[in-house]
Amino acid sequence: MPTLETKVDGLTLPNPFVIGSGPPGTNAKVIGKAFDEGWGAVISKTISLDASKVVNVAPRYARMRAEQSREVIGWENIELISDRPFETWLDEFREIKAAYPDRVLIASIMEEYRKDAWVEIIERTQETGIDAFELNFSCPHGLPERRMGSAMGQDPDLLEEVCGWVCGASRVPVWAKMTPNITHIVDPGRSALRAGCNGLSAINTILSVMGIDLETLRPEPTVEGYSVPGGYSCKAVRPIALRMVMELATMMFGGGSGAPISDDGEPPLKGEFVDRSLSAIGGVESGEDAAQFILLGAHTVQVCTGVMIHGYKLASTLCEGLLAFMEKHGFETLDDFRGHSLRYFTTHAELVRRQAEVKAAEKAEKAGMVTKDTAWEGDRFVEQSDRLVSND
Ligand SMILES: Cc1cc2nc3c(=O)[nH]c(=O)nc-3n(C[C@H](O)[C@H](O)[C@H](O)COP(=O)(O)O)c2cc1C
Repeated sequence: MPTLETKVDGLTLPNPFVIGSGPPGTNAKVIGKAFDEGWGAVISKTISLDASKVVNVAPRYARMRAEQSREVIGWENIELISDRPFETWLDEFREIKAAYPDRVLIASIMEEYRKDAWVEIIERTQETGIDAFELNFSCPHGLPERRMGSAMGQDPDLLEEVCGWVCGASRVPVWAKMTPNITHIVDPGRSALRAGCNGLSAINTILSVMGIDLETLRPEPTVEGYSVPGGYSCKAVRPIALRMVMELATMMFGGGSGAPISDDGEPPLKGEFVDRSLSAIGGVESGEDAAQFILLGAHTVQVCTGVMIHGYKLASTLCEGLLAFMEKHGFETLDDFRGHSLRYFTTHAELVRRQAEVKAAEKAEKAGMVTKDTAWEGDRFVEQSDRLVSND
């Protein structure tokens, strides 16, 4: 029987499924519910020192549905980080750790570009007994106006400086959450790891405009007739998340990208941070979705919008689906297949070379030419030899 238990950055999780930062981890009540339903770990909604600066609006979500089935496939939000006081959060972190001492609780944090603010939030939060930090360098709306969130995540030098402050103060593992709203996600990823972060999380939401109401001619979600671009999540973002996780994993752990794949399956590119961890996020709603991220190198898989659509019981569906995949392939642990598919990415030129090689072999075979020693036959030996002569 395969096991889903996994160890990441010294933390033991009963399974790799983690509640991603957002409404599903927004207070002690719902975090407790997530643990009761079997989630492997919970990341809180992002918190900051001064919640009075955070003012949300309503409505703040807009959804995209498939035309036929009406299934929700895309989700936009213009929600900010938590508007609950920092002191309340500290009390609730203590409360949750007292009730669930063996479960992994990760605090998502965000601050302005000031060393004293980052050091203060780290020091005061870690006193509560939380198990790790996730640094939100990726919220794409609202906070960038204060040079927070993705404004920090889009600047690798700034990010490296802030991660350095955090790693200097933190006594628990630190993950840096990357924004997808950037051309080369590997650049800030490398900066965060160089500064000492234990792992990366990717992706946060993709900056988007959900649509324009053709009756009112106003953009959605509409607040008093106006809107702002928001963050896109759910199923529709999964292919983009898979690509970005693949790029980060190739940089961290090595892979096939950019060079011919060797016959013994060894990745030709050496990883730059093979001892760090990767937490994948984006459009996961099934164990099969999660398996794909793990095949691309992820240690854990986060879910946010999926929980808002299906509820906390999704954890058991995810575990069942992933176990069924492992049983089918004979994998006993997540390590047995983590990163396996990275070796199959290469350059387009290499795809062309491989295809030409196969076509040439097929052509030679059609012309009756021996292309492999096993093809020689005793009865046709002389004829086969003749066909291989080029100038008679
Ligand atoms: C309504 C909503 C609120 C979110 N709030 C946060 C947040 O406070 N901090 C954060 O790091 N990410 C936040 N996210 C982003 C998610 O954690 C996740 O990175 C993203 O939605 C992609 O994953 P998903 O498709 O599973 O939702 C939020 C997402 C949604 C939909």
